[in-house]
This record gives sequence, C-alpha cells and structure tokens, in this order.
Amino acid sequence: MADDKKQATWGGRFSEGPAELMLRIGESVSFDQRLARFDVRGSQAQAAMLAQVGIITVEERDAIQAGLETILSTIEQGAFTWDPALEDVHMNIEQALTQAVPAAAKLHTARSRNDQVATDMRLWFKFACDQLDGSLLAVIQALVELADRTREVIIPGYTHLQRAQPVSMAHHLLAYVEMFARDRTRLSAVREQANVCPLGSGAIAGTTLPIDREFAAKALGFVDAAGQPRVTQNSMDAVSDRDTFIDFASACSMVGVHLSRLSEDLILWSSAEFGFIALPDAFTTGSSLMPQKKNPDAFELIRGKSARLTGNLQMLLTMVKGLPLTYNRDLQEDKPPVFDSFDQSKLMLDCVAACLPGVAANASRCAAAVADPALLATDVVDYLVIKGVPFREAHHVVGALVGLAEKLDTPLNQLPYAEVAKIHSALAEDWVEVFDLDKAMAARDKTGMPGPQQVQARIEYWRSI
Ligand code: ARG
Repeated sequence: MADDKKQATWGGRFSEGPAELMLRIGESVSFDQRLARFDVRGSQAQAAMLAQVGIITVEERDAIQAGLETILSTIEQGAFTWDPALEDVHMNIEQALTQAVPAAAKLHTARSRNDQVATDMRLWFKFACDQLDGSLLAVIQALVELADRTREVIIPGYTHLQRAQPVSMAHHLLAYVEMFARDRTRLSAVREQANVCPLGSGAIAGTTLPIDREFAAKALGFVDAAGQPRVTQNSMDAVSDRDTFIDFASACSMVGVHLSRLSEDLILWSSAEFGFIALPDAFTTGSSLMPQKKNPDAFELIRGKSARLTGNLQMLLTMVKGLPLTYNRDLQEDKPPVFDSFDQSKLMLDCVAACLPGVAANASRCAAAVADPALLATDVVDYLVIKGVPFREAHHVVGALVGLAEKLDTPLNQLPYAEVAKIHSALAEDWVEVFDLDKAMAARDKTGMPGPQQVQARIEYWRSI
C-alpha cells in the first residue's frame, strides 16, 4: 500500500491508500509532466485572480507565484523529483508548492483538476500549433528553393503512375507547397479553437465563489484580436470537450498524409528506374549486406510514421464517442496521442526541411524521360482543335497516330508524313512542331499551369509570404 498521506489532496474520506496497481494504472505524470510550464502559468494566473477578487491577499499571491517560479526552474533544470503516487503534473506541483509556501493551500480554491487540465492543454495546443507552423513554413521554404533550382528541369507528370504530360519538377514540388500551406491554415484554426479559457468551470458546475473568469483568461492570453478575454460558455462542455484534441490530431494526420505522399514521390524519383534525383547521403542509409545500396530511409520512415498519426486520431475519436458528460477518467488517455502526433509531425517536418537543400536533380535522366514524344499526344489533339476538328474526333485521330507509331515501332514525332497525312487532312506538315518541348511548356500559361512564367510567379508568391 502506498503512503496515504501523499494523497492528502483528495484522501480525506479514504481509510487506506490506493493499491500499487491502482497507482500504476492511474498515474499520468510520466507523460503529463511536459505540461509543467503551462500548469505553472495557469496556477499563477489563478492566484492573481484570487487576489483580484479578495479571496487571497496580495502577499499570499506573491508568495504562491514566486514559489511556482522556483518550482518551474527546478523542473526545467531537471532537478525536480516527480512522484507517480501523486498521480499527475498538477498534484506534483501543488504538493511541492505546499511544502514551500503555506498559502498554497488556498491555490486550488474554485478550481478542479478538470478545468485545470483543460486550461493547461489549451495553452499547450496554442504552443504546439505555433511550433508546427514554424516547421511547416521551413518545409515550404525548402520546397520553394528546390523548385527554384528545378524550374528548367522538365519531367513527365504521371497519372495512374503512367507517363501523362510534361511538367517542370518545380511545378510538381510546388503542388506540395499548396498542401502544406493548407496545413498551416488548418493548424491556425485549431489554435483559434484552443484560444478560449475554461478556467472557472470547476469540476462540472463552476463555483459559488465570486471569481473573475475574464481576469484569469486575460492573464493567460486567452484574448481575441481586440484584446478582449475569451472564456468558455458552458461549464459542462468546458471540462469534457476534447474537440481540439481531435482537430489537432486530424490536422497532424493531414500533415502526415502530405509528407507521406511527398516521401513516396522522392523515393520513386531516387530509384534507379526513375533516376530523377539523388538524395543527400546524410538522410540515407546503407545496407549491412549489399555494399552498393543507398536507401531512402528517412522518407520511408516518414511514410511509416504517418500511419501512427492516423492511428492517434482514430484512438481519440473512439475514446470520446461513448462517454457520458462530463469528465470521465478515460479522458486522461487523451494526452499521449496528441503529444505523439506533435512530436512525430515536428520531427518529420524538420527532417524534410533539412534534407531538401541536399536533393540534386539529375538533368540528363529527366531529359531522357521527358523526350518520350507520346507525352505531347494531347498537344497534337489541341493542334487539331485549333484547326477546327471537334475534340472527340481529334482525340480519335491522335489515338490512330499513336497506334500507328506502335505498329511501326517508331517514335510518334518520327512517323513518315505520308502516313500521317492519310489519317486526317487537318494534319499539315507543320504538325511535328507540336513536339517542341519549350514551346509546349510556354503554352501552358494560364493560372495554375506548369508554364515557366506561372511557375516563376508562384515561386515569387511563396517567397513573399
Ligand atoms: N490527470 C488527470 C487527467 O489528465 C487530471 C484530471 C483529474 N480529474 C479527476 N476528476 N480525477 O485527466
């Protein structure tokens, strides 16, 4: 049995302490200690508010706030002893404070761990969203710089993983920039949702004491653009709402999906079969058996880790769906998945941002791949359309040309003109000019297309954000 004096915070009605196994299943300090900074800030604001409304004196407030600051620096130096018997970060800190500052016995007035943990987590989500935003921005910048280096590298674009139409490598990379920019928007919406203060909701139904919720919210930075405090509007929702957890995990899953698709492209491109790029040695590994191998492990791990992020989201959705209002202890399990999603997303993004500057395009392999004239079959259709041939008919005509090229085992642009002319009268001798790749690229000049001017404009746009 544990020393039941340790559970003084709620142990009043209990005749014996919790079983060893109860402590093991009940503790969360092993993972929620990373909330220490937010817990201390929350308690300092709580003390300020209690003094503001006259529940504690200014001297008591100052002693509590200074005591908390000392505890925080001890924690940050790694010198704090966390005790699993005290369950969580909140009780560990409160217990340490009580030993140093007698007034600490008044700190938890009008507060429950339910609104306390909800407050800590909302502060953490704001921090986590800011961190991920910085990492996303670094990935965007690295992609834009790689795009700038590969503006003139033309490669086949693929649908169904079959060669489709030519694009610049830059245009392909900038597609990912669009995705990561949407991820930033999603995370900023999560941050906005987190930016509401639940403190004062108590365990479930608030308090009879004359607290000032707006004061505490303001002290913690839960304010709108005009500096006005934002507080939750239903105490029962405030202590049991885990929407922000789910939205955060969902935004991270989406980041993971985008990173995974980028990884897959880079893995394919770095294979001998494609040979479009070489990855930097620092982000690849060798084989213990095959001396020639250079494996794209970082990107394979990112592809693998993105599955973890999806799993974390699934776990949270499943955990919450059957819970009656309000707080249930199940909800303590809400933290490991969001911490993991944050840690893994940040690690993956930081790896990609660090690796991309070392990626080198192989110009000759790309040129060889894009030399396939069939990539411009659609441009021949457009040539016929300009000459007045209805699209459906033009598509059919070019299909016949492709069939003929296959039959004669000749590249499309080298078919004997005499044969070509037989297929359709609109195919004049100048039809082969369609196969000029530079002209073909320059013609794709409307918004969102891979023409060099469009790509250049997009690079400039992303550099300006
Ligand atoms: N460690 C707990 C958690 O994270 C804090 C809230 C405890 N509340 C309670 N009613 N036991 O969920």
